[in-house]
Amino acid sequence: GGKPERRVAVFGAGYIGLVTGACFAELGHRVVVRDIDPEKVRLLRAGDVPIYEPGLGDLIARNKERLSFTLDLEEALEGAEAAYVCVDTPPSASGDADLSRVWAVVRSLAGATHLKAVVVKSTVPVGTGSRVRAVLDEIGLAHVGYASNPEFTAEGTAVRDFLRPDRIVVGASGEETARFVAELHEGVDGPVVTMDVRSAEMVKLASNALLATKISFINEIATLCEKTGADVTEVAHAVGLDHRLGPHFLRAGIGWGGSCFPKDSEALRQLASNTGYHLQLLSAVIEVNNLQKRRAVQQLADELGTLAGARVALLGLTFKPGTDDMREAPSTVLASRLLAEGAEVRCWDPMARPGQGEPWASTTRHATPELAMEGADAAIVVTEWPQLQEVGWAGVAASMRRPVLYDGRNLLDPAAMRALGFTYMGVGRP
Ligand code: UGA
Repeated sequence: GGKPERRVAVFGAGYIGLVTGACFAELGHRVVVRDIDPEKVRLLRAGDVPIYEPGLGDLIARNKERLSFTLDLEEALEGAEAAYVCVDTPPSASGDADLSRVWAVVRSLAGATHLKAVVVKSTVPVGTGSRVRAVLDEIGLAHVGYASNPEFTAEGTAVRDFLRPDRIVVGASGEETARFVAELHEGVDGPVVTMDVRSAEMVKLASNALLATKISFINEIATLCEKTGADVTEVAHAVGLDHRLGPHFLRAGIGWGGSCFPKDSEALRQLASNTGYHLQLLSAVIEVNNLQKRRAVQQLADELGTLAGARVALLGLTFKPGTDDMREAPSTVLASRLLAEGAEVRCWDPMARPGQGEPWASTTRHATPELAMEGADAAIVVTEWPQLQEVGWAGVAASMRRPVLYDGRNLLDPAAMRALGFTYMGVGRP
């Protein structure tokens, strides 16, 4: 009995590759993760995890017999039945996804005739699968199957999302390949949905675009709530109780960021325009998201009279709590705008490791939210870190030059904050 153990080569030891590799090892497969970054591989071999993701370190440690890391291509491919492509596909200058890393991996598979399937997990434009297929044919792997297996894990919950997903999407041209990829996931608690390759590629982009749309939509309703005296948190709660709409991704705030929504929505917009169709809704979704940050800065400027010379504390820098990821974080845009307006910017974040470059080089970093807000004219809650609920807000109100608080995540209780003397501004809340 028991399911067959497969040999899986995972290409890319980034966020997706590490989660995929560790979870496949947990499912009983023998996994080699290959990366071209010597420092990353060295760290992983020493038992360190170069990214912060809850549960991932434990999973890697627990499966170390079945999970290894290498720089060496031959070692990764030895006996491999599946080659999982998990490299990043950053936006290029034109807005199209840069697939150079994907092509480098696919071309490196030449000679790996023992493979049963090449599977792309990286987020790619619709149609990439056909191009990969053509390369595989060209390099002597015409007999090897091809599948698209997009990932839907969110940072902070990636391990759970992988092992208990809402669905596993497998796009393949042949039934045999689809079955092989589905069987790799045996033990995962979630339905496998199989389809053609192009549709699977589209599911990924459409899912992220619809999630981003829900957020931008509720953010526009929040703006209208501000103008009409309604409370968006009440509205979103009741709207979300309609099972056709659902309660998720209706939290109004300073806007979405991260390594996926901004990149994938741009990529989808670009993909559409390459076909000659302009995606109208998605363009507005992106525009509303940019507007959210401009509005926050404008509201502070209006409240303070001017931002020139104002001391502003940014509370939370990462694009969401529970991660150290700074990619496309709203905090970066806010810090740049505030500095450009002549404000002094003070920061607090429990996890972020912002680089040495701008805007951060022109800001100061403080060990606690209280210290960041000391003597400040205003504070902005940028990321809803739970630590912010434990702040001694009464003392903070007394220590600020002007107790102006812009709660960009609707984290705090408006009435309680006003009772402490704060000029409190939420997003879409009176
Ligand atoms: C997102 C998707 O949720 C995953 O399903 C997808 O697999 C992933 O992108 C990806 O493409 O790899 P992630 O970027 O980790 O995951 O973060 P989310 O939790 O989705 O949050 C994205 C942004 O939306 C954050 O800035 C968050 O603060 C914001 N957000 C989220 C809101 O402003 N309001 C909400 O109601 C929900």
